[in-house]
Amino acid sequence: MRRTKWVELVVIGLLAGAIATLCAILIPWLPTSASRQAGRIAFTYWFATIICLFIFAVVMAILIYAIINFRAEPGDWSDGPPVHGHTTLEIVWTVIPAVLVTSISIVSAIVLAKNGNAGNNPLVVKVTAQQFSWQFTYPNKKTYPILRLPVNRPVKLEITATDVVHSFWVPEFFQKQDAVPGQVNSLVITPDKLNDAKRPFYPVICTELCGLGHALMRSRAVVMTQASWTKWYRGSPQPRPQPGGGGGTAASVLFTQNGCGACHTFKAVPGAAGKVGPDLDNVKDSATKAGQSLLAYIKTSIVTPNAFITPGYQPGVMPGNFGTTMTATQINALTAFIASHQS
Ligand code: CUA
Repeated sequence: MRRTKWVELVVIGLLAGAIATLCAILIPWLPTSASRQAGRIAFTYWFATIICLFIFAVVMAILIYAIINFRAEPGDWSDGPPVHGHTTLEIVWTVIPAVLVTSISIVSAIVLAKNGNAGNNPLVVKVTAQQFSWQFTYPNKKTYPILRLPVNRPVKLEITATDVVHSFWVPEFFQKQDAVPGQVNSLVITPDKLNDAKRPFYPVICTELCGLGHALMRSRAVVMTQASWTKWYRGSPQPRPQPGGGGGTAASVLFTQNGCGACHTFKAVPGAAGKVGPDLDNVKDSATKAGQSLLAYIKTSIVTPNAFITPGYQPGVMPGNFGTTMTATQINALTAFIASHQS
């Protein structure tokens, strides 16, 4: 092959490689990485991508070069010359891919092993999924609806579900893990990017279709400095609203924390716009039809959801365990809150 032909081949390869590289770099394919595990996964991704870019450039160079230089002349219907085998070429195109694929698998295996290792002193947080909310229980037995994590400390999430299969996913942490009833799946996360005023939290998303409120089954993960996390962890009392007295902010927090807004519309709580269950802005008529006082009706409906089913809605959709996950004081506060915001 003449020297100019080699130059042509190399130029086509460089051009194809440059275009593909621009597509890889300029398009934000991955979310911002906010954990060490995510950083390793991103590394694996780029490792494989760079190999693919190289192979793509080589294949495109040969393909385009061949299309330009070996195309049939008009009217030429003859076959190309018969070529049989080329041992060196065959060894080369077997050995190079074998080496590249093996290197990808080695890198992946190392990353998998590192990402599964929580070290000897992880913070263990139990994650409980239920239709349609998340609960996070810390070693001090306190349970919160928001996942607060200290930066740079390995966290071992022990994930389970109370009803159907859900799946835990924070895009910025890259990994997903199924939440399966009767089973505990673990996921190790070492957050390495603090949240700030610009980005106050990372979303926690349910990524397994789990029922009518699936799309709204979301929470928040907040990465804090070690100092402010410790302060929160030591000082934070179990979230408990003030009892009675028309609700106010505390009871609306309880409403949000228990995920009520994922299924119910309730104007008193911003963002509560669910359509899975009845609108809570006017339950007086339903209470009257059920022959109950407003308070008794609301309380019964929270604790024993199937006692009264509003026409047009399904029984068995609302979790039946709020009577055990909330204290009596909390249930009374929530009841009073809903009762005091009727239109
Ligand atoms: Cu829980 Cu989807």
